[in-house]
Amino acid sequence: MNNVRMSVRQKSIVLIGFMGVGKTTIGELVAKKLYRSFIDVDQEIEKDFGMTIPEIFEQHGEAFFRDYEKKKTCALAEQKLKIVSIGGGAFLQPEIRESCLRNCIVFYLDVSWDEWKKRLNILIDSRPVLQSRNIEEIEELFYKRQDAYSINHSKLTVNQRSAEEVADFIVDSLKHTWDMYEPMND
Ligand code: S3P
Repeated sequence: MNNVRMSVRQKSIVLIGFMGVGKTTIGELVAKKLYRSFIDVDQEIEKDFGMTIPEIFEQHGEAFFRDYEKKKTCALAEQKLKIVSIGGGAFLQPEIRESCLRNCIVFYLDVSWDEWKKRLNILIDSRPVLQSRNIEEIEELFYKRQDAYSINHSKLTVNQRSAEEVADFIVDSLKHTWDMYEPMND
């Protein structure tokens, strides 16, 4: 899998990780700190259909959603200079994974199962994937997805860190990477 020949400073940043880890909140902060535009792929899909994600699942089914998610995410991953948050299931699709890894810098936001469990109540109403499963099945899904998430350019564990702290970490590590690969000439 070849990286696209593009300046590393121009590559978009993609945030991946399980539902509710904070991809949107952290992505918005990173975008602000780097003066870049933020794109939440799920919000873009909702705009396209004029429906919420649960409504799309209900009316069209998960397979339809996944197909649309694939086209949308791959197209958005080809844009430069963006901060992009993708759906928690998106990176499971090989085409999405390959497109993000080839075109962008991919940050995996990890969280422990114990920490994530505390967030379940606030997530369940807006996440159809959780509604169809009991807690043991959600735990199984949580661990199963880690194999796909483990293919990334950089990983950091969120747990009890604030969104601000995580965003600062991402910005610092990006600046370090940019300087290392493409030092600015004075
Ligand atoms: C999903 C995660 C959601 C959304 C959809 C399916 C998943 O996005 O794409 O409900 O399969 O994990 P978030 O990760 O932003 O919650």
